[in-house]
Formats: sequence, C-alpha cells, structure tokens
Amino acid sequence: MKLLKGKKIADKILTVLEKKIKKLFQKPCLAVILVGNDLASDLYIRLKKKAAKKIGIKFQLFRFSVKVKEVEIIQKIKKLNADKKISGIIVQLPLPGNLNTQRIINALDPRKDVDGFHPENIKLFLEKQARFFPVFPQAIMEILKSSRAKLKGKKSLVIANSKIFGETMVVALENKRIKASYFLFKELKNKRDLIKKTEIIVSAIGCPGFLRGEMLKKGALVVDGGITKKEKKILGDIDYSSAKKIVSFLTPVPGGVGPVTIACLLRNTYKAAEEASLKRLSRKCKA
Ligand code: GUN
Repeated sequence: MKLLKGKKIADKILTVLEKKIKKLFQKPCLAVILVGNDLASDLYIRLKKKAAKKIGIKFQLFRFSVKVKEVEIIQKIKKLNADKKISGIIVQLPLPGNLNTQRIINALDPRKDVDGFHPENIKLFLEKQARFFPVFPQAIMEILKSSRAKLKGKKSLVIANSKIFGETMVVALENKRIKASYFLFKELKNKRDLIKKTEIIVSAIGCPGFLRGEMLKKGALVVDGGITKKEKKILGDIDYSSAKKIVSFLTPVPGGVGPVTIACLLRNTYKAAEEASLKRLSRKCKA
C-alpha cells in the first residue's frame, strides 16, 4: 500500500508558483475574512499565511468578533472587491450560525473568489468553462494524478457531504475521463455493493473511520477528504488500520488533502492576480 503524502505534492505546486510570482511586477495579495474563535479555522489560516508568505503572496487577515453583523462583513467584502491591490478574497468557513454563509459568499466579486465557492464560479465549472477550479476538488485531482496509476476509463465513486461538492467532484473526475458518480452519506445503506466494486473512492463526509477495509475493493485507490476534530486529534473518514491491508493507495489525515488544498488556493490567487493584470494592460492599450 502506498501512502500518498500531500506535503510532497503541495511543495511541488508551491515551488512552481514561487518562480512565477518572482517574475510579477505587482505581488498577488490574498485577503482572508475570519469570524469568531474557531480553533481549527485559526490553524488553517496560520497554515495558509505561512505558505503564502513563503512564495511571495501577500496576506491580509480581517478578523471579526463572533458578534459581528452580516452587513459589516458584506461592507468589508465590497471594499476588498473594489481594492486593486487585492487579488483574491476568501471567507474562512464555517461561519457562526447567525450569519448567512451563502449571502456572504454571494457578495464576493467572482473574479476574486479564489476558493471557487461563488455560484457563478460553480456554474462555470459545472458547464466546463471554469474560471477557478474549486480548491478542494482541485487538490483531490492533484493527489490522484500523483498516484501515477492509470485513471482513464476507471470507475470512481464520491461519498459527499453536499450536493455541490458531489457535483463538482464528478465533473472534475469526468474531465480526466474517469467515470464518476456521487451519493450523499444518508444514502450509504444502499451503496455498500457499489463501494465494494469501485476502483477509485473519494470520501469527504466528516465521519471518522466509517469506511473500513472490508467495505473496499482490493487494490482500490482511496482519497480521504474527511476532516473531523476530536479532542486534539484530526481524523479522516477511512479506518486506516483495516484499509491499509486492502487498498493500493490511500491519503493520510492529517497531511493528505489539506496541504494540497492550500497550494491550490494559492495557485488560484496567482491566477486571479495574473488575469487582473492582463485586464488592466488591455484597458491601457485600448486607451
Ligand atoms: N474551511 C475548511 N476548508 C475550507 C476551505 O477550503 N476554504 C474556506 N474558505 N474555508 C474552509
């Protein structure tokens, strides 16, 4: 069994990006909105900041108290949308329950939505006209590519926590000619046979250890995108000790999809900066 370590894949992406960023006249800048005191979000933000700084992407954090009003966040987003120095904006999720996540995401300028969460960007991606490849499915595809296994024509199955993730992940797989379908966790009962027969499994539901070795196909390639915090541990969806005897490839949690997602976010930020500068240039030429 090969353990697909995310850090190695992330480092490769970051090294390429660092070289490209060195050649830019204006360095990209990522703005991050963080609300409340969620410890996991604090950790993700620290990791994003460290990776960004290392490769020359500026990082601006806007932290709000848990009591903030939705309109204040939306006002801040509008200011950042209009600020030419800001290349990309993300809203760290989850937001506290009193805030409407969708309304806040909708306020982002889709050209700065480097997570790829805005409905306009999801629609473009599903129509195969992507502006930004959503970071989480993008990271999973990088991991599958790095397995060096033959993927074209194989069957895959996505166990998803939401319809949006299931649909985007299926399109991402199909774009690489991998047959794909998804189901939501609540439909698991009827899907056990299908899981057992499938060569590529992507799981992202946040249910620690629910996928055990005996549920999986011998030699399967398994990407564990589940992240659950339990006491001080971070746990994935796959039961590692039983799965490692059955599958041929597996991603660890932590240290699997997580670091690659950060690298993909920074790649989208670079892309946003590059496109904004091309647009400015073409406007100047026309003037
Ligand atoms: N929370 C957990 N993962 C993510 C992510 O990829 N982006 C944002 N904005 N929030 C998250």
